[in-house]
Amino acid sequence: MMDMADLFGHVVSPVRRDEPLCDGAVVLRGFALADEVALLQALNTVVAQAPFRHLITPGGFRMSVGMTNTGPLGWVSDRRGYRYDPVDPLSGNPWPGLPDTFLQLATGAAARAGYVGFMPDACLINRYEPGTRLSLHQDRDELDLAQPIVSVSLGMPAVFLFGGMLRTDAQVRVPLAHGDVVVWGGPARLRYHGVMPLKPGYHEALGGVRINLTFRKAG
Ligand code: SIN
Ligand code: FE2
Repeated sequence: MMDMADLFGHVVSPVRRDEPLCDGAVVLRGFALADEVALLQALNTVVAQAPFRHLITPGGFRMSVGMTNTGPLGWVSDRRGYRYDPVDPLSGNPWPGLPDTFLQLATGAAARAGYVGFMPDACLINRYEPGTRLSLHQDRDELDLAQPIVSVSLGMPAVFLFGGMLRTDAQVRVPLAHGDVVVWGGPARLRYHGVMPLKPGYHEALGGVRINLTFRKAG
């Protein structure tokens, strides 16, 4: 994003505004931009220890979105089902620890959205390449559905689909850019959501891909 200067030539921070989506859900525009460099560095460290992989759905399909995790619990899928696991099945080791910058971003965004005291124990990292999408789903593998979801967009822009409590409910299309954070919880916690196919392009932070960090209290 281009920096803007005020009348005195000081660089002012890029646009940060809050856009409510519905009761319980909000888009925090640019919320992650202040920590961009530290976030990208921490991301590299995590991915070096636990690389992206394409999980297999219980039905036997290979997911097009690359995934990895950081934190005490990681979301995994295989022929046995979806679950949270403290161990990375690829390495047999615990998932890399949740970086401080990740934790601070997640708790800060949750608090700003009204969810004070949110303490995530899982961060799923999704990597979207051009053409890949995430079909409509609910996040319901977590024990305590009173806890919100904090979702951070990095790199290429994408269109987030935010629907209702039924799969067939209409969805709003929410364009998400580098640094935007979406928080949903409370009455919005079980709303269906997904991501439209990523358009090809280039973003200076990550090249041609979009990375999404999703923070949850899973256990
Ligand atoms: C998710 O639903 O888990 C990820 C959403 C996104 O990539 O924006
Ligand atoms: Fe989700």
